[in-house]
Amino acid sequence: MIQLVNRQENGIKVSFVKKERLEEIQKSGGLSETFKADYLEALWLTNEQNEFTLYIGIGEEDLDCIQRKEIAAKAVKLCKEKELHKVSIDITDIINQYSAQAVFDLAEGAILGQYNQRIFKDNQSSKMEIEFCNYNEEVQEQVRAYMNDAISIAEGICFARDMVNLPANRLRPRDFAQEICDFVKDTSIETEVIYEEKLREMGMDALLSVGESSQYPPCMLVMRYKGDPSSNRITGLVGKGVTVDTGGYCLKPSNSMLGIKGDMAGGAAVSAALYALAKNQVKTNAVAVIPMCENRISSGSMLPGDVIRSYSGKTIEIINTDAEGRLILADAVSYAVKDEGVTEILDIATLTGAVVNMLGFSIGGAISDDDKWFDEFYKAYQKSGERYWRLPFYKEHEKMIESKIADIKNLGESHCGTITAGLFIRAFAKERPWLHLDIAGTAWVEPPIFEFQTKGATGAGVSSIYHLCNRED
Ligand code: BES
Ligand code: ZN
Ligand code: ZN
Repeated sequence: MIQLVNRQENGIKVSFVKKERLEEIQKSGGLSETFKADYLEALWLTNEQNEFTLYIGIGEEDLDCIQRKEIAAKAVKLCKEKELHKVSIDITDIINQYSAQAVFDLAEGAILGQYNQRIFKDNQSSKMEIEFCNYNEEVQEQVRAYMNDAISIAEGICFARDMVNLPANRLRPRDFAQEICDFVKDTSIETEVIYEEKLREMGMDALLSVGESSQYPPCMLVMRYKGDPSSNRITGLVGKGVTVDTGGYCLKPSNSMLGIKGDMAGGAAVSAALYALAKNQVKTNAVAVIPMCENRISSGSMLPGDVIRSYSGKTIEIINTDAEGRLILADAVSYAVKDEGVTEILDIATLTGAVVNMLGFSIGGAISDDDKWFDEFYKAYQKSGERYWRLPFYKEHEKMIESKIADIKNLGESHCGTITAGLFIRAFAKERPWLHLDIAGTAWVEPPIFEFQTKGATGAGVSSIYHLCNRED
């Protein structure tokens, strides 16, 4: 996907220009006078041989990892806009300033910059050829290693975006399971799809209660990656896989139906992260569990007031059929603990509108009952450049989901919706260290916030989960 070379030879040349280099280049007659090398400012120039060079300003301050992704994405996007299919990016200065590891961000940014949403028309755009040129040969092998690791993550992010961008009629629950199995088939990941009949035998009633709302049956995908047989630690990664969420009998208003196809972004994220871990042969053990279903209206659909059972044995009072995510995640979390023996839990979901109101489209909500576990996640998202904010919880929040007629209810009060949704899931984690991510705001963007995003799915969570599992312990 990206060639690493030590001389620029193939395609449009791209050069990153720091403000301090501007004068030096201008003296040699190089750059137009209006170009200030401000961050993300772009300038196209031709030389005597009629060769194009694209200069991208990178300002004067040090770049953080988001910015390193952005400059690479910007370069690729600009070439894509001009329908130039070969691009050669000089990364030498960045490597020299920030070390070989900086290529990690550049490579991810470049690949995400070329991401196109799948279009259901004839004119499919072709992939670009990207070349990274590093003149500093001493670190070339290190650069190559980091680059290859980043490429697996970026492939994962692109896959997650594809899944989330697919409309509901092109991705039923079983299609989603199949797409993931196909995507990881050349890795060491073991996959198992648990179909409806087996779910019934097992008593996965919370998942079934939501899934029965549709003629397209529910299923649950289990993916096992054993990259560290010497360790007993197994990380459980549970992702919400609702391929369409109409709200059920608590039907969503039509003006809020646009995002309903993207309610499986959590499931897409955990599968993509596991793919990258396996591709990069990371020394860790992780099991992804993805409950998949639709949330619709049928004669068998849940109704407000119903009391259902769950796989754990706990009974649940249904207050709102649109709070379906926590129901299916409850069963998946119970399964991960009981049947897969996971030693710690991460769950990730497009779970509440409340988190969007609170943190917007660039920050995910996080909740955890274990400081050490959250701390590991904190380190992970410093590396990925994603943003999260940890929310508090106390006894009074737990009280909000107590039911008079069942063990628990699926809706709290009109406030603290993100916290009570998380705590509902925690009730099924059987005291394992638990971390909950609500990505309802960050899973898709319109318009994009960062250069490495395009309108639609973002692939939120993939790289942070990857880094969480790729920890040094
Ligand atoms: N999938 C939605 C949450 C959501 C909302 C995701 C907006 C993306 C954008 C979830 O299943 C849901 O419907 N949540 C309800 C819960 C409510 C009924 C307690 C919500 O947040 O409105
Ligand atoms: Zn819902
Ligand atoms: Zn939902």
